[in-house]
Amino acid sequence: MSLNLPIRPRRNRKNAALRGFARETHLGPEHLVLPLFLHEGAENQEIGSMPGCFRLSLEGLLREVEGALKEGVGAFDLFPAITEGLKTSDGREAYNPAGLVPRAIRALKKEFPEALVITDVALDPYNSDGHDGLVRDGKILNDETVEILIMQALCHAEAGADVISPSDMMDGRIGAIRGGLDARGFTEVSLLSYCVKYASSFYNPFRDALDSSPKFGDKKTYQMDPSNAREALRELALDEAEGADIVMVKPAMPFLDIIRLVRENTALPVAAYQVSGEYAMLKAAALNGWLDERRTVLESLLGIRRAGADMIFTYFARQAARWLKDG
Ligand code: PBG
Repeated sequence: MSLNLPIRPRRNRKNAALRGFARETHLGPEHLVLPLFLHEGAENQEIGSMPGCFRLSLEGLLREVEGALKEGVGAFDLFPAITEGLKTSDGREAYNPAGLVPRAIRALKKEFPEALVITDVALDPYNSDGHDGLVRDGKILNDETVEILIMQALCHAEAGADVISPSDMMDGRIGAIRGGLDARGFTEVSLLSYCVKYASSFYNPFRDALDSSPKFGDKKTYQMDPSNAREALRELALDEAEGADIVMVKPAMPFLDIIRLVRENTALPVAAYQVSGEYAMLKAAALNGWLDERRTVLESLLGIRRAGADMIFTYFARQAARWLKDG
């Protein structure tokens, strides 16, 4: 039988050339940022809950970046696993100019000036309480924390960071850090705000990687409630007014609607972070042979792009770049 159908969407899918013309979303290595973990050790150390990801030595970091650049990934985000003995309640290691992150930035910029170096600003790797801010009487202090974040941002800028990325969710930190950087002449250093960051269960493998789990309570008094969407627009309006250059939504896959919402409400570039738990679940299924790793990972990244992300932070960046190159 033949249906009388003047309109048949399948005609635009009938061969590769037509599918190519109809394709609305493009995913390439230029959209990807590779987050990297550092530690003081001389050897790279695999992270149990993130197979294929390592706490890198300084030398390991340089070799990782060298490999990634060859594969077309040009942007890196640094996260330090700080030695337990250097963690204090005032988080002062966060702005030590001889600390792990400033040393890594200098080494990276010296060997690969073309690499885009993004650094994370927050206190959780440095703070003996495992919180992103200073703690007093069981409360996370806002304004006192912001003062330290400014010093941390200046420390990264002095070492040569291209982009500073506050992930702490304190109120007012974007404007305060912008002011602090500008007052010291760092007007060219960009601010990528973790603008819409949820109190998510998908961060646990990252906290294993840095040994940075909160020592008490949770992060719900500063990270957002996963039930909320309108609140994302409040955070967005503030970060825009305070001078953010790029705004991030995090995590990515469980929050695709929020990526779309932010995309439709700002002219700024939008970043999304496919976080450690998203990596872990895809990786675990792939290692068990339950999912086809290449096809599912690329589909997940394409979905994040389609939702409206201009750039994606993903631990799959190098693998994805290789797969995209192979076609
Ligand atoms: C902390 C920070 C976290 C991540 C990035 N920066 C964890 C947290 O907020 O507890 C998570 C990244 C990931 O899970 O991949 N400032």
